[in-house]
Amino acid sequence: MYDTAETSRILVADDDTATRQVIVEALNYVKDCSTLEASNGAEALSLLSKHRCGMVITDVRMPVMGGIELLDRIMEINPLTHVIVMTGYPSIDLSVCAMKSGAVDFLVKPFNIDDLLHRVNLFLREKSTLEESVAGNRSKVVLRHIINELSTQSYIYDVIEETCNSNERIFQEMADTALKVSQGESCSLLLFDEERNEFRPKVTKNLSSEHTLDLQSPSLLSMLQKVIQDREACIINSFSGHEGPSSLILAPLRIRNRVFGVLGISRRKNGVEFTPTVLNYILSLTKRASLNIENNLLYESTYANLMDTLKSMAASIQARDHYTESHSIRVTELAVRTCEAIGGRPEDVESLKIAGILHDIGKIAVPDDILLKPGRLTEEEYEIIKQHPLTGENIIKPIMLLDRERLLIRHHHERWDGRGYPDGLTGEDIPFLSRILAVADSFDAMTNNRPYRKAMAVERAVEELRKNAGLQFDREVVHCFLTINKEAGHGSLQ
Ligand SMILES: [Fe+2]
Repeated sequence: MYDTAETSRILVADDDTATRQVIVEALNYVKDCSTLEASNGAEALSLLSKHRCGMVITDVRMPVMGGIELLDRIMEINPLTHVIVMTGYPSIDLSVCAMKSGAVDFLVKPFNIDDLLHRVNLFLREKSTLEESVAGNRSKVVLRHIINELSTQSYIYDVIEETCNSNERIFQEMADTALKVSQGESCSLLLFDEERNEFRPKVTKNLSSEHTLDLQSPSLLSMLQKVIQDREACIINSFSGHEGPSSLILAPLRIRNRVFGVLGISRRKNGVEFTPTVLNYILSLTKRASLNIENNLLYESTYANLMDTLKSMAASIQARDHYTESHSIRVTELAVRTCEAIGGRPEDVESLKIAGILHDIGKIAVPDDILLKPGRLTEEEYEIIKQHPLTGENIIKPIMLLDRERLLIRHHHERWDGRGYPDGLTGEDIPFLSRILAVADSFDAMTNNRPYRKAMAVERAVEELRKNAGLQFDREVVHCFLTINKEAGHGSLQ
């Protein structure tokens, strides 16, 4: 329960001495009311830590710490405090921000002093009612705080989820978000090199040019070592760097039980310290971000292993047919160049790099006497060869990561006029990247020796592509393919 003297005490914070004096003098006429004065938010917080006040009247623009930040801090320390915010520069955003942060009232300067006194008297009259219903109010205030915390937590979650595919972006966002939710001035994300036992700055952000985290400081380095050892986050309010005392949060970045870095946020102390609520936000941020970093690393290593396996499978065809592997490499290069020239997205290029290498992987199931037959294939033998896009698709079907490439492989022998295989798709129903693969594949097959025929001259292959544009091939793809190859110095292509 509040003590009456405490609730009747009013703190006035304004850097303008004249305004402050006018308010304080007016309040002295109010019965049972005592006052305290501060010239900025930090001074006000320092006074509030020693003297409990029922009401705070604060200006918005003040040096060191402004009124909105003061309001936030007061709501953390004692959310039942009545806060009146004054400003000479009103804006809707500012009023909304003050009200959302818990201000009871908002006054625009210059205001009538009687108006202020009226509000103070109202507050004092309602004080007794407040005292009676303090329990009820407290639960409302607690609820408001829970809602504030939840929305901050959800903000942290959203920011990290939106950047979840790239570790570089996660690192950047982690530093930005840490500064936002903590109202810190400087943030350093340090990666820890376990072998050399040293820290390497990955991201450094300083909102104030005068305030930075000094990584050369022996006391900071010893605290960083302690965070690595204990694997626990901490708030250090006794930290004194070369710029004077700072409040500091150090939080470990962990994958499983290994600490791979530390996130450090600091601000000049000036009577204001990081609170346990802020530490909790930073912990949520580092845990969520570390989890996504771990997922990305796992994905990358799984993906690399998988690609190695598939490449060795593709290479195993080479043991039987020396043509296939070098053909696959050339087809990939031609297809990628065409796709880039046509303005394909980076993910299209990546898909082609995989599908190009693997497009004929289904030939692994074609018997040697057919695959390596020097003469013309019979109809039955050709039917077996025609199975290879489906076999290739089936080989990589269980790998969900290659869902898109699976379709490119299935359709790399479709024809624009619908006379291709295995599905007889026509025109734009054929995946665009498969249409690129088809042109690159045919051109390379025509211009290289095969067991059943000699390589065709480039000029003739170009003629074939032109002749079949709009029949076998997508006209736009053929045009682009010939143009870029001419530009690359293959003059005979046009
Ligand atoms: Fe093929």
